[in-house]
Amino acid sequence: MANPRPTQPQRITPPPPVQDLNWSPERAHEFGEQMLALWEQLLADLSALPVTHHEGVADVREAVTLPIPDEPLADDALVAHLQSIIAHSTHIGHPRFLAYISGAGTIPGAAADLFMAGLNPNLRGWLLAPAATEIELHVGKWFAQQFGMPERAAGLMVTGGAMANFVGLKTARDALTGWTTRRSGLAGLPQLTLYCSDQAHAVIERDADMLGIGSHAVRKIPVDDGWRMRLDVLRARIDEDIAVGVKPFAVVGTAGTTATGAIDPLAALADVCGEYSLWFHVDAAYGGPAILADDLQPLFAGIERADSIAFDPHKWLYTPRAGGCLLIRDLQLLADAFAVHPTYIYQDRERTDRGIDLGLLGPEFTRSFSAFKVWVSLLAHGRSAYARRISHDAELARYMGARVTERPDFELMAPVSLSICCFRFVPQHLPDAPGRDDYLDRLNERLMTAIQLDGRAFCSNAVLHGRFALRICIVNFRTEASDLDALLDVAAEIGTRIDGEMRHEWLSD
Ligand SMILES: Cc1ncc(COP(=O)(O)O)c(C=O)c1O
Repeated sequence: MANPRPTQPQRITPPPPVQDLNWSPERAHEFGEQMLALWEQLLADLSALPVTHHEGVADVREAVTLPIPDEPLADDALVAHLQSIIAHSTHIGHPRFLAYISGAGTIPGAAADLFMAGLNPNLRGWLLAPAATEIELHVGKWFAQQFGMPERAAGLMVTGGAMANFVGLKTARDALTGWTTRRSGLAGLPQLTLYCSDQAHAVIERDADMLGIGSHAVRKIPVDDGWRMRLDVLRARIDEDIAVGVKPFAVVGTAGTTATGAIDPLAALADVCGEYSLWFHVDAAYGGPAILADDLQPLFAGIERADSIAFDPHKWLYTPRAGGCLLIRDLQLLADAFAVHPTYIYQDRERTDRGIDLGLLGPEFTRSFSAFKVWVSLLAHGRSAYARRISHDAELARYMGARVTERPDFELMAPVSLSICCFRFVPQHLPDAPGRDDYLDRLNERLMTAIQLDGRAFCSNAVLHGRFALRICIVNFRTEASDLDALLDVAAEIGTRIDGEMRHEWLSD
């Protein structure tokens, strides 16, 4: 029903402005400077800080949370509180943080993020982010070229390696099933399977779960002495599956496994994929950036034949989190796998010269400009500095391997590969009694936790053939040889103490 006409014409008064959130450029500068000062202080203090603190949940929660006020918090109080967060953080950028695979965070990348948060583009659509979209496409293309992929290859930024692998495998699933899965799901299809080594990252199983084929559809192929996927077993497993009516659709090679840094035989995997008409996806989330270093590049031969590659600038390109990348041999394949057509987005492409809407090429719709910090880092440092530092990280890992081998109180647990070294503490004069390896497992488990709580250095672990190893991965441009020696000294000191507490129990068992 139409609104009744007012008898008397009424004056329409506009609502008064509400401008509390709209800070002036001067106010922005003042606040921004305080944030910059915090960051500068952090950079100045970083090496002298403990890598982490020995605190439990309740203490951290109590120290860092603040009730949200109704009225603005004064800058002094706010900044003082933010500063206190430093004391309750784990400092991944610390030169002695050597755990997992967590890049140190480039300095130009962090600064670039502040500017870009101010510009705040939405890379859902070209119209909302013309410059940003073109830069992201340019960066993706550059990476695809570094990997030697074909001319049409391109990239899409995502949040990290988990998402990059998912995007690659979703595209693989849809392409290899004739795109019907996008509409009909898996109904009526045979069981789909994919193949990776038993060293592949756990996210591959989660991907299979998210793709609706179930994690049992991931065939984990055993590895050889160098922790690389065994081709004979791969072929046999594919043949077995085909023989019982299962439909293989992809092989995932890992270029830099999380535990040992091993690189699967990529060229041979590409051959197998060609032979069986399978999608060849490479999880290079960790190892990928090593393609920039001349001495490491030959290890990746065959990667250029991949249909898709996952790699993570926020790991070994050191850029601030989060930013992963999926490279694909043809961008159109992503459009085929992910495009949707909301009616509220009308675009007259004939009268506008608009480019690609990246929000239609992946699972995210509204998208941040995560390529920016990567691009600015590459511009500010240049390719050669990256190549030198990545090569240096690998050299440091080999140095660590040599030191571990040389010292009587440590044992190397796997060949050093890329920038990963796995080892364990073996107290001197340890008797060769029954249960020795089990004892070393228990000792090194306790030791790793104690090192992490101690805070002078920080490593993580790998489980290799069922045995517990200490593990370092150098993706930190601040780490040098003295930091590695310091970790070994800390490990030996704490390990000797724990051995003193535990050994009696083992031998009296
Ligand atoms: C080989 C590999 N793939 C995938 C991932 C997951 O990457 P992200 O943590 O960036 O999602 C990791 C993480 O360490 C990894 O090492």
